[in-house]
Amino acid sequence: MYNPSRIIKSEPVILGLESSCDETAAALIRGRTLLSSRIISSADEHKKFGGVVPEIASRAHTEAVGEVVELALKDAGLSLEDIDAVAVTYGAGLLGALLVGLSFAKSLAYTLNVPLIAVNHIRGHLAAAYLADNSLKPPFVTLLASGGHTAILHTKNYTEFEVVGSTCDDAAGEAFDKVARVLGLEYPGGVNVERLAKVGANTVNLPKCLVKNTQQMQFSYSGLKTAVINYCHNAEQKGEAVNKADVARSFQHAAVDPLVKKTVESALKLGVGTVTAGGGVIANGYLRETLARECNAAGLKLVLPEKKYCTDNAAMIAAEGLTQYLHGNFASLDINARAQIPLR
Ligand code: KG4
Ligand code: ZN
Repeated sequence: MYNPSRIIKSEPVILGLESSCDETAAALIRGRTLLSSRIISSADEHKKFGGVVPEIASRAHTEAVGEVVELALKDAGLSLEDIDAVAVTYGAGLLGALLVGLSFAKSLAYTLNVPLIAVNHIRGHLAAAYLADNSLKPPFVTLLASGGHTAILHTKNYTEFEVVGSTCDDAAGEAFDKVARVLGLEYPGGVNVERLAKVGANTVNLPKCLVKNTQQMQFSYSGLKTAVINYCHNAEQKGEAVNKADVARSFQHAAVDPLVKKTVESALKLGVGTVTAGGGVIANGYLRETLARECNAAGLKLVLPEKKYCTDNAAMIAAEGLTQYLHGNFASLDINARAQIPLR
């Protein structure tokens, strides 16, 4: 009978597991200290299809999950018996992919008789900042931008946040990926748009991603994406050459500048002195530089996770697992994976 030890340690060793998309990841933390973080990615297998193929992702997770845990344990110099709790992403994401990590985590927790912690992937992205700065404490304002979400959040304490503003249609990462496709760039798109933007100029007139005159702060990426598509099609029809690097650079400005501006404004308005960020789009170098410059100019402290902890990883899942552990928030073995979980 599964009856895990509920002894709460202040500095538990937590194994984090992540398998919501195309990265199979495992990480170990002791308290807020990161001991190891490993990722086995199936991104190359999806390249020729121009996006993640769910079935291929699930099969790749099945092949990689055991190995990635072993590698993380080896890097940390630990064995299975040292693990005090297993934290795993249970949503949102691709169902078949999530089920591989979740089932593996359940088996491990059951066998080791330690608590299972079910982590919301988005809360994981938020928690990455705790590993970047051991002394970070709420309140803080977070710019969250990934393939599925774009929002400015006000974290009030370790378990509660409020949505200050969010996208009303596509996520920023989704727009980066779609623009990459329009420009003929390979999957994964975001990082390739950034690469191309480096050699371009901000000369193409595109709409900014901010919706004006709404009561709540709203972003929109669908119109911006369509404007890029129309610009390219119009040029093609007129037989004019498109300077793809200029389009990439102009899009990057239109997609990033309002996010940064509104994040800084929100922190100042709320009287919160610290800004954090999380999600794959936060790996964008231009966004990082702009956010750092604007926070500095406004006298705000910025806690920015390293790029590798912005894109999907298991260290952030372990970090959120620690918060849940310290609140005694454990999952039972009948918990199921969820394709979608609302932001709040
Ligand atoms: O957080 P993440 O790894 O997965 C989700 O939870 O969605 O975010 C993936 C998204 C993708 O849309 C990807 O294109 C975008 O983050 N991304 C980037 C960069 N690296 C990843 N977008 C812009 N610039 C980057 N360097
Ligand atoms: Zn993610």
